[in-house]
Amino acid sequence: MTNTNNQLTIIVGTQWGDEGKGKITDFFAEKSDYVVRFQGGNNAGHTLVVGDEIYKLHLIPSGVLYPKAISIIGNGVVVDPKVLIEEITELQKRGIEPNLKISERAHVIMPYHIAMDEALSGHQGNLAAGSTKRGIAPVCADKVYRHGIRIGDLLEPELFKEKLTKSYNFNKSIIEKVFNLSFAITLEDIYTEYLEYGKKIAKYITDTEVELFKAFKQDKKILLEGAQGMSLDPDHGMYPHGTSTNNVAGYASVGVGVGFNCTAKVIGITKVYVSRVGNSPFITELPENEAKALRDKGNEYGTTTGRPRRVGWLDLVQVRQAVRVSGITELAIMKLDILAGFPEIKVCVAYDIDGERIEEMPASLTKLRKAKPIYEILPGWPELSEIECNDFVKNNFEALPENMKKYIEFIEQAVGCKASIISLGPKRSQTIIR
Ligand code: GDP
Ligand code: IMO
Ligand code: MG
Repeated sequence: MTNTNNQLTIIVGTQWGDEGKGKITDFFAEKSDYVVRFQGGNNAGHTLVVGDEIYKLHLIPSGVLYPKAISIIGNGVVVDPKVLIEEITELQKRGIEPNLKISERAHVIMPYHIAMDEALSGHQGNLAAGSTKRGIAPVCADKVYRHGIRIGDLLEPELFKEKLTKSYNFNKSIIEKVFNLSFAITLEDIYTEYLEYGKKIAKYITDTEVELFKAFKQDKKILLEGAQGMSLDPDHGMYPHGTSTNNVAGYASVGVGVGFNCTAKVIGITKVYVSRVGNSPFITELPENEAKALRDKGNEYGTTTGRPRRVGWLDLVQVRQAVRVSGITELAIMKLDILAGFPEIKVCVAYDIDGERIEEMPASLTKLRKAKPIYEILPGWPELSEIECNDFVKNNFEALPENMKKYIEFIEQAVGCKASIISLGPKRSQTIIR
């Protein structure tokens, strides 16, 4: 199979999530036939801004505002059906009928997974990631234990009962006997409730793998939307301070069930500073007395949990790793408007670990705990009015302030990847394609 005419595009986060993947997915959805989520669950939160309208999505792909594109929730996503139904209803209330299909192979987050997430977070102490407590790690564990429940099972009452009994008893025992907590919801109640959810979403459930395969062979344009970001990947991120589904581009084939076997366009979404919700070493983190101004200006409060995000300077060791691991072919540089007005901007180009200069992300948590940022300092650019921003969008990259261009070129050089998309604001319209 070939990838003629950029038929296949994969969007990935290069940091700790919340880089602006939703905005860029929405931007490219207009020219896509399919927009597909391939991993994550409702731990993700994606904000789309179109004119004065703001949409917040957790599970439904960020292409949903263009109903011509079919939205697919792939097998690699873990689905809380209750949240999904709420999201569909919310969109319908706003006049958007999601053109949605859900893989029958996607795993289902059950109430005992959420209870288990709560219990685990207490247990992990210093090594916890600061989970969103949406049941992500426990549902992934059940999938690997091989007693998970899949979306398709909700449509087969007998099979569902058989599987639920096994999964329910296992999880209830651990919650009660290992963690000494109680889990009061009965198997019968869950069974009835989730069969009902199955009925509500039945019309969306299908074999999405075959449909996507056929679409790909017919040269349809497919946009694969990643959630989370590089450093949260369970294999390549700052393990164990990450999430439980892989978010690197290589996972896209697994998470949608099509062996594309072609060179994809891979867009690495990169915010000009870094934010982090949860626990882990954060090498470029700003001390709280300096962080608040940037957090407020950038509105860095979690879409999913409302938690204030930790913030810090751009870390190019992190982005360099993302470019390497995901095979990123181009970067989207986000939120340049938020750094406007800073006289000087720091960029971390390497880590100092025990006096040694390290340019590639270490695997060792001991090293990460000791790492100190090595910064280059670049001159800033002035605050931009909305009119100026619109003007830049019209006149493209060359019209941007000189120091902003130098900053972008510095990133390109440091990580060896071209920045083809420049974002100057949250709105769909505030986007420059170079
Ligand atoms: P995602 O998880 O990667 O999809 O990102 P989120 O949607 O959680 O967080 C990114 C936030 O930044 C959202 O509120 C976006 O509306 C906003 N955003 C995206 N691009 C820009 C930009 O260029 N400038 C500004 N000011 N906000 C942006
Ligand atoms: P989007 O798609 C930011 C973080 C959590 C926690 C760790 C594990 O919006 O970029 P989990 O609930 O998955 O077990 O939590 O991962 N996390 C995110 N942080 N953006 C996200 O998604 C995230 N999804 C998970 O804060 O540190
Ligand atoms: Mg987000």
